[in-house]
Amino acid sequence: MRDFADIHAFVTGASSGIGRALAVALAAHGAHVHIAARREGPLAEACAQVEQARRHPGQHCTAHPLDVADEARVRAVFDALAAQGMAPQLVVNSAGVVAQQLALDPSVTHRPGYFDVTPAEVYRQLIAVNYLGAVHVCQAAAPHLRRGAHIVNVASGAVFLPLPGYAAYVGSKSALAGFTEVLRHEMRPRGVRVSLAYPEDTDTPQLHAERATRAPEVNAVAGLSSVMSAERAAHLILRGVRRGAFHIPLGDGQRRHLPAAAPAGVGQVPHPGRAAGARAAA
Ligand SMILES: NC(=O)c1ccc[n+]([C@@H]2O[C@H](COP(=O)([O-])OP(=O)(O)OC[C@H]3O[C@@H](n4cnc5c(N)ncnc54)[C@H](OP(=O)(O)O)[C@@H]3O)[C@@H](O)[C@H]2O)c1
Repeated sequence: MRDFADIHAFVTGASSGIGRALAVALAAHGAHVHIAARREGPLAEACAQVEQARRHPGQHCTAHPLDVADEARVRAVFDALAAQGMAPQLVVNSAGVVAQQLALDPSVTHRPGYFDVTPAEVYRQLIAVNYLGAVHVCQAAAPHLRRGAHIVNVASGAVFLPLPGYAAYVGSKSALAGFTEVLRHEMRPRGVRVSLAYPEDTDTPQLHAERATRAPEVNAVAGLSSVMSAERAAHLILRGVRRGAFHIPLGDGQRRHLPAAAPAGVGQVPHPGRAAGARAAA
């Protein structure tokens, strides 16, 4: 995807941080932008910011309050957009949480900690949002994606640098990374590209929540890497999309960790279900 003008883009987690910066940048590039997050207030503020960034008033900006963990709601939103002729051709999964953010909620009694004192419920919540949330969005989008469409899943540099106190987060983001590798191969025959972005410390509310409550060992190494702005992260992600890159590293040292390319031919193999259907039709 070389140009974002007049495409429909759908961004989750777009009321804040990297997702919001992506939505604003896409509007500035001329895209129609559809944004999603749970809280309506921040979503409305983001929508106003997106509208201000548009190139022309004909660009749509629609806001969709939703929890990506709610599969039925996610599917309904994609089906409704498609029914209105606004099926997204760029889909970005930026919605994500860390355990430290959950701990800021006064109703949550645990404090971020090591793997054995972090309640299993926190692991389930992070899997539900960071992993299954993206799966729901990809599944809901898939029937509506045309050739040339693009999906971006936002993982984390933490999959290469797993730090103490992040067991639940790294588990959920590693699951997302593995899923996205497979998605890439399965979408290639459909003419849909897939990217996997790995942000490192980025100046957003998520990072601030982490800093307030993270494990002491992490604070000891904090400051060794620089902090990126959300706008810079969005710029690098969209540059990666334009280049058709699968891996979109956002940290200096990440390239040496990137998995080797898949064997030639992977992704070219016909889907067994479709091949059987084709034989039956012949
Ligand atoms: N900032 C960093 O240093 C950093 C580093 C590595 C990776 N990342 C990843 O980059 C992505 C963006 O992070 P960020 O720093 O921009 O975070 P952020 O500023 O906290 O924004 C997170 C966004 O996700 C939304 N969200 C959270 N849970 C959701 C749910 N269940 N359903 C729908 N929307 C949900 C939030 O809105 P609501 O709360 O209203 O739903 C918000 O819009 C995340 O996937 C994060 O894990 C960030």
